[in-house]
Amino acid sequence: MESGKKRSWAEPFKIKMVEPLKMTTREYRQKCMEDAGYNTFLLKSEDVYIDLLTDSGTSAMSDRQWAGLMLGDEAYAGSRNFYHLEDAVREFYSYKHVVPTHQGRGAEHILSRIMIKDGDYVPGNMYFTTTRLHQELAGGKFVDVIIDEAHDPNSRHPFKGDVDFEKLEDLRKKVGREKIPYVCIATCVNMAGGQPISMANLKKLREWSKEHDIPVIHDATRVAENAYFIKVREEGYKDKSIAEIVYEICSLTDGCTMSAKKDPMVNIGGFLAVNDEELFNKARNMVVIYEGLHTYGGMAGRDMEALAIGIEESVQFDHIRARVGQVEYLGQKLLDEKIPIVVPVGGHAVFLNAREFLPHIDQDQFPAQSLAAEIFVESGVRSMERGNVSKGRNPETGENYRPALELVRLTIPRRVYTQAHMDVTAEGIIDVYQKRDKIKGLKFVYEPAYLRFFQARFEKIG
Ligand code: F0G
Repeated sequence: MESGKKRSWAEPFKIKMVEPLKMTTREYRQKCMEDAGYNTFLLKSEDVYIDLLTDSGTSAMSDRQWAGLMLGDEAYAGSRNFYHLEDAVREFYSYKHVVPTHQGRGAEHILSRIMIKDGDYVPGNMYFTTTRLHQELAGGKFVDVIIDEAHDPNSRHPFKGDVDFEKLEDLRKKVGREKIPYVCIATCVNMAGGQPISMANLKKLREWSKEHDIPVIHDATRVAENAYFIKVREEGYKDKSIAEIVYEICSLTDGCTMSAKKDPMVNIGGFLAVNDEELFNKARNMVVIYEGLHTYGGMAGRDMEALAIGIEESVQFDHIRARVGQVEYLGQKLLDEKIPIVVPVGGHAVFLNAREFLPHIDQDQFPAQSLAAEIFVESGVRSMERGNVSKGRNPETGENYRPALELVRLTIPRRVYTQAHMDVTAEGIIDVYQKRDKIKGLKFVYEPAYLRFFQARFEKIG
């Protein structure tokens, strides 16, 4: 923006209730980190000052959502709140049928079980941890078809979530369409740094999918954030509302899995939504085995009510601009100090590039894991590793995957922290950056078999 014309935006809400935070000393935090085996997932939340572990289930609900909780119809079958949720999914996301689940991975589980057969391949615009695991447990193999730029933290491509059609076609020619049950497309790709997919790319994918008769399933967890980037970056969308763009994205796909703990700002919940009647019947039948009756899945009636309201709030422009704006604010503060982060700044988090931050630590000594621990000890800010630990081991070779992206994610909960919290966070990280040469790598002392990043324990090397 030109100087002299700058107008700041501020959060489009005021604070009605506060949750006090505990202030701690460096020595105390050092002890906490050792007790947690250098894994930020194993810290106690009350020892954390600013919690940027995840944006999942950590958002602040609005007064309307809280009021909605009081309207919970806790009937075992046919809860009124289910029908509100169904209406919201149809109105905002376009999908015809909805199956509630306790959270996103519940929907991924059911989807994978009903669509994937042993020996199938599931192409996707980068993996997500739980999504890939459910695909594998169902007998499938995930194949990454995202553009190369997504694996380059320094590429300024505006839509790093785009599909590379050469990669997709290569797979189809190699294995045949019968072995590809669907293409799995995430909006605002989490593991790429919260990077959006463009509408142009989605339209092209729609054509490809019709030509080859392969459905597209959408991980809609952060679809509103993606819609914001389309509005501000893609030609032809400037004057469209976020709601219109969200609807258009969803209309280009055949169904979705949703972790409602993100965009729609509830503390728990999710769903699977599809247009196809037959698939719906299969999903509705399976949900009763693993989650609950098809009109509540894993949720209480009150949770479904808060979710229906949250869906509507998530597509409001003032909300989403402030949400993404706050993430960009933190990212810019770090860029101003030449801290290596993934660019462009994503929709839900700022990702530190641990390879460049700690070039002296080999990837098998988990630089991102170590950096996340160090940031907590320095500042009380909790972040999350998204690199070699998260990616896991190749089941065929047993080796760590050593992904191109070795990142620490500073994930901003929606409507929870203020700009001053972002300032304090940036200052803590700048201090760590100045002492980066002294930071050491880690080794496993306990490595769980599945999703190892959640419960693994480490000790310092040397
Ligand atoms: N898909 C994406 C893109 C996600 O980010 C998540 C969760 C899920 C699916 C699974 O949903 O947690 O409700 O079962 N992401 C959280 C995170 C855990 O911190 O990024 P869930």
